Amino acid sequence: MRSLAKIHFSPAVLAVLVQVVSLFLLIVFTFIFALVATFFFGIDLKYPLFFLVFLQALISTVLSRLIGMASWWGWIHFFFPIAACVMFAWNIPKEIYLVGFLVTLSLFWTTFRTQVPFFPSRPSVWQQVAKLVPLRQDAPIRIIDIGSGLGDMSMYLAKQRPDCRVEGIEIAPLPWLVSFIRAHIYRSAAAFSLGDYRQLNFANYDVIFAYLSPAAMLDLWSKAQAEMSGGSILISYEFDIPNVIPQRQISIGTQAPKLYVWEIGNQ
Ligand SMILES: C[S@@+](CC[C@H](N)C(=O)[O-])C[C@H]1O[C@@H](n2cnc3c(N)ncnc32)[C@H](O)[C@@H]1O
Repeated sequence: MRSLAKIHFSPAVLAVLVQVVSLFLLIVFTFIFALVATFFFGIDLKYPLFFLVFLQALISTVLSRLIGMASWWGWIHFFFPIAACVMFAWNIPKEIYLVGFLVTLSLFWTTFRTQVPFFPSRPSVWQQVAKLVPLRQDAPIRIIDIGSGLGDMSMYLAKQRPDCRVEGIEIAPLPWLVSFIRAHIYRSAAAFSLGDYRQLNFANYDVIFAYLSPAAMLDLWSKAQAEMSGGSILISYEFDIPNVIPQRQISIGTQAPKLYVWEIGNQ
């Protein structure tokens, strides 16, 4: 049962299925309890709405754990029905939902396909990455943040290393637009493009920084191996590449994830 979460469906589809199955179980259980109460005890059972929602939350949380979904999905399954119920009770105008939906869609609409959600790295990470960028006299070092989000990392690098040519590429339109506008406002030398890094030629870069997700790492490594030149470096924050030992692992803090560095040609 646990392998269901890993093999057959993407997590988003599985999450919807969990909620649907939980609703089905909830209806069956409450119906049986109501029948038993009526026939054996003569009680006409009436369930308060919030109690039903709470049960739905509980069943879906347990179900998600049973089928082996990541633990944070349990929190989502628990709070989603309760939040939906509370917001319904508050009579929030439907336009608010539309705005929320559109903002979320432009932030995350590609996540379903790429399996890489948006979450920003921190300044301590940018500082370490800046230290890893080599010095070169003859031509500017070419750096790219693949999946540049709101653009902070690229703008930081462009500021710290004006001798380098810094780019960011982002697949989701809203973060890209924010990075593009911010780069103009702050007069950053970093250039941002809207697109899929998988369409780039990695041979055009000396340093590639990635903060993606475990789902992206094997393909990223195949592309890096095929296209990056000897001597260039691939840096990944938090996510390593299965069975490919990095030349360096840098701790950012005691509990924070690491930076992994692969020097191409040294494997
Ligand atoms: C974890 S965030 C990292 C953001 C930024 N690099 C940082 O360090 O703050 C990953 C970003 O990669 C983007 N992304 C995912 N797949 C992508 C792809 N194939 N091409 C371009 N961007 C992608 C996501 O939309 C998301 O904004």
